[in-house]
Amino acid sequence: MIVKNDKDLTAEVIAAMEKTSDPRLREIMVALARHLHAFVREVRLTEDEFRAATALLVRIGQQTTDSHNEMVLMAGSLGVSQLVCLLNNTSEAAPETTQNLLGPFWRMHTPRMQNGDSIVRSPTPGDALFVTARVEDRQGKPIAGAEVDIWHSSPEGLYENEDPKQVSMNLRGQFVTDAAGRFWLRSVKPAGYSVPNKGVVGDLLRAQGRHPFRPAHMHALIAKPGYKTLVSQVYDSGDPRIESDVQFGVTKAVIGRYTRHEEPHPTAPDAGAPWYTLDYTFVMDSGESRLPRPPIK
Ligand SMILES: [Fe+2]
Repeated sequence: MIVKNDKDLTAEVIAAMEKTSDPRLREIMVALARHLHAFVREVRLTEDEFRAATALLVRIGQQTTDSHNEMVLMAGSLGVSQLVCLLNNTSEAAPETTQNLLGPFWRMHTPRMQNGDSIVRSPTPGDALFVTARVEDRQGKPIAGAEVDIWHSSPEGLYENEDPKQVSMNLRGQFVTDAAGRFWLRSVKPAGYSVPNKGVVGDLLRAQGRHPFRPAHMHALIAKPGYKTLVSQVYDSGDPRIESDVQFGVTKAVIGRYTRHEEPHPTAPDAGAPWYTLDYTFVMDSGESRLPRPPIK
């Protein structure tokens, strides 16, 4: 085709996208062309800005390695990851979900533990945390026999795979829910942490005067045949950054109360004071039990 003007160009591009044979891909590509062209028009993108934007996308790719994904970090920092999560797991009838972001640190083959076990595998200074949790369906019926992967950062805000002081699989464990849908464990209280901010995402945050931190949280991945795999994070209501997560991950349903105790622990005298408890209920939807691709090995 010979392009006559900018309006004509957009129509031609959309017509080209409409040739996509797969119907879902066609729907996505047509909408992408329409919105992308509208976006360029709205901001009247200059030639310099266009070159800078393409260079930026190249840099995001170059900054992505086996152990770091700058693209996923950018998607989170723009709120797109959370938007996809909310659109796919909430409805008008069920406006809340305990589904949340997977994050970059889930590992497969987490060691199987017994309920009540500690997931502290190497000396990890910090306040003891006792977690009691339930897994239920939308009707409040307990889900027994669900496999629950738990992982979280240390009290210094580091995951074991980014901290030479921790042994492999420290602060990670897999539990199975009992007949009442419960699981429980001991750990140390996690801390919030900064996302990597030396790349393109860091530049974005600095340009906006945004801090790079996530509030403290515990991750969970819960699987049981017949239920959509639940990927969750339970955030500390007392974290000073609970309302300003750089990844926009905090919704009301995933705020947990990490309760501080000053008295001696009734059954674990080695816990010392203070120690914390977290009691939380995860809610699963029926659906396909499918594991995500592990972001790291
Ligand atoms: Fe995390």
